[in-house]
Amino acid sequence: MRWYECAVRAASSGERRSRAPSNPYCFNRRSDRTYSRLTFPAADSIDESSVTGIPSVGVLFTVVYKADARTGPCLPLRPWWRVTSLSHLGRSQAQSPNASVPTSNVPPLVAIVTMAELDALDVIVLAVILLGTVAYLTKGKYWGVKKDPYTTPLPGSAAAKAGRTRNIVEKLEESGKNCIIFYGSQTGTAEDYASRLAKEGKSRFGLETMVADLEDYDYDNLDAVPSDKIVMFVLATYGEGEPTDNAVEFYEFITSENPDFSSGETEKPLKNLHYVAFGLGNNTYEHYNAMVRNVDKALQRLGASRIGEAGEGDDGAGTMEEDFLAWKEPMWEAVAKKMGLQEREAIYEPIFGIVERDDLTRDSPEVYLGEPNKMHLDGEPKGPFNAHNPYTAPIQKSYELFNSKDRNCLHMEIDISGSNLTYQTGDHIAIWPTNAGQEVDRFLNIFDLADKRHTVISVKPLEPTAKVPFPTPTTYDAIVRYHMEICAPVSRQFVATLAAFAPDDESRAELTKLGNDKDYFHSKVTTQYLNIARLLEIVSKGKKWSNVPFSALIEGITKLQPRYYSISSSSLEHPKLVSITAVVESQALPGREDPFKGVATNYLLALKEKQNGDASPSPYGLTYEITGPRNKYDGIHVPVHIRHSNFKLPSDPTRPIIMIGPGTGVAPFRGFIRERKKLAENGQTVGKSILFFGCRRSTEDFMYQKEWEEVKQVLGDKFELVTAFSREGSKKVYVQHRLKERSKEINALLDQKAFFYVCGDAANMAREVNATLAQILADERGISKSKAEEIVKQMRASNQYQEDVW
Ligand SMILES: Cc1cc2nc3c(=O)[nH]c(=O)nc-3n(C[C@H](O)[C@H](O)[C@H](O)COP(=O)(O)OP(=O)(O)OC[C@H]3O[C@@H](n4cnc5c(N)ncnc54)[C@H](O)[C@@H]3O)c2cc1C
Ligand SMILES: NC(=O)c1ccc[n+]([C@@H]2O[C@H](COP(=O)([O-])OP(=O)(O)OC[C@H]3O[C@@H](n4cnc5c(N)ncnc54)[C@H](OP(=O)(O)O)[C@@H]3O)[C@@H](O)[C@H]2O)c1
Ligand SMILES: Cc1cc2nc3c(=O)[nH]c(=O)nc-3n(C[C@H](O)[C@H](O)[C@H](O)COP(=O)(O)O)c2cc1C
Repeated sequence: MRWYECAVRAASSGERRSRAPSNPYCFNRRSDRTYSRLTFPAADSIDESSVTGIPSVGVLFTVVYKADARTGPCLPLRPWWRVTSLSHLGRSQAQSPNASVPTSNVPPLVAIVTMAELDALDVIVLAVILLGTVAYLTKGKYWGVKKDPYTTPLPGSAAAKAGRTRNIVEKLEESGKNCIIFYGSQTGTAEDYASRLAKEGKSRFGLETMVADLEDYDYDNLDAVPSDKIVMFVLATYGEGEPTDNAVEFYEFITSENPDFSSGETEKPLKNLHYVAFGLGNNTYEHYNAMVRNVDKALQRLGASRIGEAGEGDDGAGTMEEDFLAWKEPMWEAVAKKMGLQEREAIYEPIFGIVERDDLTRDSPEVYLGEPNKMHLDGEPKGPFNAHNPYTAPIQKSYELFNSKDRNCLHMEIDISGSNLTYQTGDHIAIWPTNAGQEVDRFLNIFDLADKRHTVISVKPLEPTAKVPFPTPTTYDAIVRYHMEICAPVSRQFVATLAAFAPDDESRAELTKLGNDKDYFHSKVTTQYLNIARLLEIVSKGKKWSNVPFSALIEGITKLQPRYYSISSSSLEHPKLVSITAVVESQALPGREDPFKGVATNYLLALKEKQNGDASPSPYGLTYEITGPRNKYDGIHVPVHIRHSNFKLPSDPTRPIIMIGPGTGVAPFRGFIRERKKLAENGQTVGKSILFFGCRRSTEDFMYQKEWEEVKQVLGDKFELVTAFSREGSKKVYVQHRLKERSKEINALLDQKAFFYVCGDAANMAREVNATLAQILADERGISKSKAEEIVKQMRASNQYQEDVW
């Protein structure tokens, strides 16, 4: 059988200037460059079930039929295609797939259909779409645009930046900078590295540096950046080798075939551009550091000159920080040589000015006590709720899933009915955590801030391009509790910076040694999972580090990040109730007295205990400010936002699905299965659903055991649970072993175009499952291993194989 491919492109790239949101639900995020491929057999009549890759959400797209070199001419518009695409178009026009994104920002659908045999209906459809496009493009000019609540300037929000220029060259000129460091970051690491490069460039080499969020600028005048300036890129990779949300537009632009630069030149338009590149990735993902690799390639193709090597940091090997440190030394040498810079003794220069406000107290209404933005401070926050503006959601119900003395796994149901948030089965929810009281106290104490923890301060940037990462005026306590990642791994570079502020010579010598000796640092700090306050306590034997400027702490410690959880409920069954399934992070470490405790999950555990009757919960000795700033979280609330994902059930419910989800990897599959149960109860025919679930023991961590039995009552032989209890026999039994035992059936289901899903541990399990599936195909189809691996790759490319791994 011959196969055709067609490409689907998100509408945002064409409308770059109109600032369409770089929305995470655009399904092209899973794509090869800007395209998401749909594959379908080359037959005259096509039924939907034979098509793979149709997204079930995020249907804001331009449809481009593209001739595929291998398959010959494009497929003409088929009656089937018309129907399918219309149903998608209709759905997204009728309602935004994500009500948390202002609908006024959602671009309308644009369909460019080439090679199509148009009939009257096609023409009508295209005319409607065209009208929609015109309406969108004239939005705000000829018809009203609802005021976006984000026009209130919020720190870090898009609107806070709205008045600023998007022109890089203008920005460099007006701020007198000669080095701009762009970051593409999802959870803050790349952003942190960009800030560190900026700081170091200034203090060691006198470079006039600025840090920039990639989504804040246009790129079409990268060709006009003068050759005596330098542009740095620090880029994390996500999903299947994709950009972070804030880097989508940049990535689409720079990797497009002919990016449209200001000079109009097409031959080496970036010949004047000097750049530096570092990527953040994880080798356990298939597309390791794809962002930096692809951007580097694209920049070179466009004639830009890279200074030094393109660096790559590996989270998978746990060497990110060391990779970064090892890369940046020769990079600085090369930059200094190229730009004729003289290295000087690094002197700490604060970026932020801290003013203690005697005129305000913590009870003053304008003082932030942990509220994330002005709307939260002023009263009832309104949507859109998103990564800059969480919804304070009530937790409706929470309970323990394990039956174990020392491990906890939480099921929590979060009510989003009071918001305009929506979700679809398979999406993620972000929880905004609060630091544990003991760690807040430890931090304030070691930096000698405990006595003035409630003193009100204003934090002001001392130079025009610096951004204060939280709203002020606020208090030391609120910053440390709600805004700083105070428990995170410590950066060796930061440790070296702090040596200058040591309380005595001995501590200075020890900190300098830790900063300079990577093996020593590893043995003393990394293996013990020390956070900064714990480390300094040990180094100075409890003496306070009173000389450390608070600005250095703001600069050196990342923003407290929301944690993502795979939603374990079905939006069909509970459109306004989102459940999560979260294992509580607690690790005993040899040589350390108390176990390491994760930030968000232990906070959730305390919330669960409070909800279930404990007036002042202190799970494992940890306490939290559970009622939140000004008691706004009272009644068991937690700040959340939703992130849409591509991890989705097939649009055709009769398709079989194979799900591999050991441990908490089962989370989204609970949602999938409950969705199919609901469909069946509504009278729909559903395809076979087979779930491979693994845990340690049937008596200890067999999550949702009862629920599976109830599902079985409804779905009968359309649902099968296959278990792998790893610690019940003499040999480990894992999900992939069970999968292998079912080779024949798996192959037969794949022949019926079953979708294959994997969720959970990225480092080992997901890889091993991938390899097992290839082995099954090779054995069952009598083909070579490499051919089987190729088929698995194809399945991934067409979304028939989907992963939600972390
Ligand atoms: C897309 C996605 C979906 C997810 N879905 C789920 C889900 O459904 N269920 C679920 O349980 N989890 C899920 N997770 C994981 C979840 O987001 C959190 O990472 C997890 O709950 C731990 O959070 P925490 O704040 O409790 O731990 P953290 O405090 O963030 O610690 C997490 C890890 O970071 C490292 N670390 C932290 N501090 C230090 C230190 N000082 N020194 C050395 N190492 C350190 C350790 O390895 C530690 O185990 C998902 C993650 C992603 C990205
Ligand atoms: N980076 C890693 O190496 C790694 C590994 C596991 C989990 N995690 C992470 O730890 C967190 C908590 O995990 P969890 O509580 O959900 O799961 P878990 O309880 O640690 O594991 C669930 C089941 O998976 C088994 N398992 C271990 N290694 C496996 C492998 N290579 N292939 C298939 N199954 C395997 C476990 O067996 P045994 O424990 O008996 O071996 C257990 O039976 C998650 O965030 C997860 O991503 C990370
Ligand atoms: C859900 C998820 C998907 C990821 N996908 C990839 C990937 O495809 N390739 C890769 O090299 N790294 C991948 N990574 C690793 C991240 O790039 C890495 O952790 C990086 O440090 C994150 O940087 P940030 O904190 O700036 O967002 C992924 C990480 C997560 C959590």
